[in-house]
Amino acid sequence: MNSNLDLISTFENSVNEYIRKVKDITNNLLFAKVITHGCQMNEHDSEKIKWLLNKMGYKLTEDDNLANLIILNTCSVRHSAEDKVYGQLGNFKRLKEENKNLKIAVCGCMMQREESRNYVIDKFENVDIIFGTNNIWKLPELLFESYNGEKLALDIENKYSDLDNNLGANRLYSYKSYVNIMYGCNNFCTFCIVPYTRGREASRRPEDIINEIKGLVQKGSKEITLLGQNVNSYGKNLDNKISFAELLYKINDIDGIERIRFMTSHPKDISDELIYAFKDLDHLCNFLHLPVQAGSSRVLKLMNRRYTKEDYLRKIDKIKTVNPNIALSTDIMVGFPGETEEDFDQTLSLVKEVKYDTSFTFLYSMRGGTPAAKSPNQVPDKIKHDRFQRLLDILYPIQYEKNKKFLNRDVKVLVEDISKKDDTKVQGRNDEFKLVNFTGTKEDIGKIIDVKITDFNSFSLVGEKIGN
Ligand code: SAH
Ligand code: SF4
Ligand code: F3S
Repeated sequence: MNSNLDLISTFENSVNEYIRKVKDITNNLLFAKVITHGCQMNEHDSEKIKWLLNKMGYKLTEDDNLANLIILNTCSVRHSAEDKVYGQLGNFKRLKEENKNLKIAVCGCMMQREESRNYVIDKFENVDIIFGTNNIWKLPELLFESYNGEKLALDIENKYSDLDNNLGANRLYSYKSYVNIMYGCNNFCTFCIVPYTRGREASRRPEDIINEIKGLVQKGSKEITLLGQNVNSYGKNLDNKISFAELLYKINDIDGIERIRFMTSHPKDISDELIYAFKDLDHLCNFLHLPVQAGSSRVLKLMNRRYTKEDYLRKIDKIKTVNPNIALSTDIMVGFPGETEEDFDQTLSLVKEVKYDTSFTFLYSMRGGTPAAKSPNQVPDKIKHDRFQRLLDILYPIQYEKNKKFLNRDVKVLVEDISKKDDTKVQGRNDEFKLVNFTGTKEDIGKIIDVKITDFNSFSLVGEKIGN
């Protein structure tokens, strides 16, 4: 514990020292813009980066022309995610010509991947700073190096640092918060880049997690989302073994906590203990995201998912028996190398049987360095797109029927924002993670409000405040 505190205090001293030097160079004008791609892990990392920036005296801005530091937090999961970043880096050329003091930093999963990192270094001379997912805390030092004349200040770590565990976060919302419970992934699904970008699995200590959540709840957070690539294997590398379900029970006991969510759990090791938690725990939301990826056991084997279609359906059956009203969500990939029409039919039959409330669907994207990218049996784009559409044609009507069940029901909505399309309405999520729109004002944001559902479509619900 003591050495941890020493580590933090040395770190804080060095932040102050670096920033004093940076301020001298920039005449105290510190404005930073952070752009985030990718999943909740990255969103939360950006919250940590923003916290660090504030600590360094930076003000956050959305204005490209005002910023003298732009940080791009990148994602590598699909080709399209990387392309967006290359496009943005191209656009920054002009900004840099106009503002000689502007520094461009690139971080996140793409930078942990040698192929993409080298491409950025070769093609975009305007990039000044590069750091990885495990050494966000190095930013002050790298920034100083860059202002001090270093052409490219670069630091990539493969191993997760304890300092990351102790970074604060400048949270985007006060009423819903992400909390990391573990980092990395050991699963090596053959299509996936994440184990290469995020490194090996490492769990945070339960005390650290509980303390962080207590602090958030005290500050008024209503919904805590626990983050990990494979939360079911939480605790395996800790000295004092604890399972994910045990952690959930402890979190459920925290005074004042309202809603608990988590992502993502892997079907291969979802335990009975976790399934029963959905019945037992009053604060655990009535929603489970359980990515299936494909319905064919043959394809699942090629993907190294380590469950069969039958295993998955058995788990779903058990979940529905324990909690018949649970809302189910999934990730499905179409066009994995070698996927035949018969394999794809198995995916269609699985989704008809499970009847998901929500789904995230993807076209397989080749990721260099992963085993599946080397397969000679890549599925042609036209077939992928055709299957994708056929999958949506089955998923969406099921989602419509699922949402219909909410008609005339009273639900509790944690209001997140003003609706995107109509500023007389607000939007939020119910327990089942359904998006609900209803007439309201910005005073409703952050509150849990009782709403009667009056309309719906395949993707969201519409309602009215009860009592209005
Ligand atoms: N840890 C999570 C997934 C993280 S990535 C899990 O195991 O469920 C989120 C989703 O992106 C995956 O579930 C998968 O459906 C999709 N994905 C990952 N790699 C992909 C690739 N190469 N092409 C297309 N989709 C991919
Ligand atoms: Fe990727 Fe599989 Fe790990 Fe999820 S479990 S992050 S899909 S390797
Ligand atoms: Fe997330 Fe993308 Fe990295 S999905 S873990 S930000 S590769």
